[in-house]
Amino acid sequence: MLNKKVEKALNDQIKVEAESSHAYLAMASWAEINGFPGASTFLYAHSDEERMHMLKLIKFVNDRGGKAIIPSVNQPDKDFKNLQNIFNLLLSHEHAVTAAINNVVDVCLKEKDYTTHNFMQWYVSEQIEEETLAHHIIDQLNLIGNDKGALYFFDRDIATLKGGPQAATAGK
Ligand code: FEO
Repeated sequence: MLNKKVEKALNDQIKVEAESSHAYLAMASWAEINGFPGASTFLYAHSDEERMHMLKLIKFVNDRGGKAIIPSVNQPDKDFKNLQNIFNLLLSHEHAVTAAINNVVDVCLKEKDYTTHNFMQWYVSEQIEEETLAHHIIDQLNLIGNDKGALYFFDRDIATLKGGPQAATAGK
């Protein structure tokens, strides 16, 4: 039976992942109607990945004898200035997700739940990858600045970046 404090922490994390998926869906939709098909493809795939993160938690909670709570989600931001704005928001969001995951890990240690602690290590590693990816994208966008030609190629290439569509369809 899942420790109640651990179960609560995992359910809180289910909501965090659901809100991440929703936030990136809103970004994908904005990119789609503002002339960035590549960024839109990347963000739709990233939204799918976050949903997968949520599902993995739901299955774990239920498989361990707990009860996963399917959360309501807040309306995400829907208006963005440009791609720089989107990816800066995405990185801040990932920093918050990392803090939330660290909190779950902390609860596992306090409650001596080493099974869930072990399960959560996948999320710890995933956060390192996601933050690195977001930094990489922001660095590229900073280099590009207002160069529309370079932005065109950036948008073309981001559709195939790791964390983009291939990663999502590979069931990452
Ligand atoms: Fe599921 Fe981007 O953290």
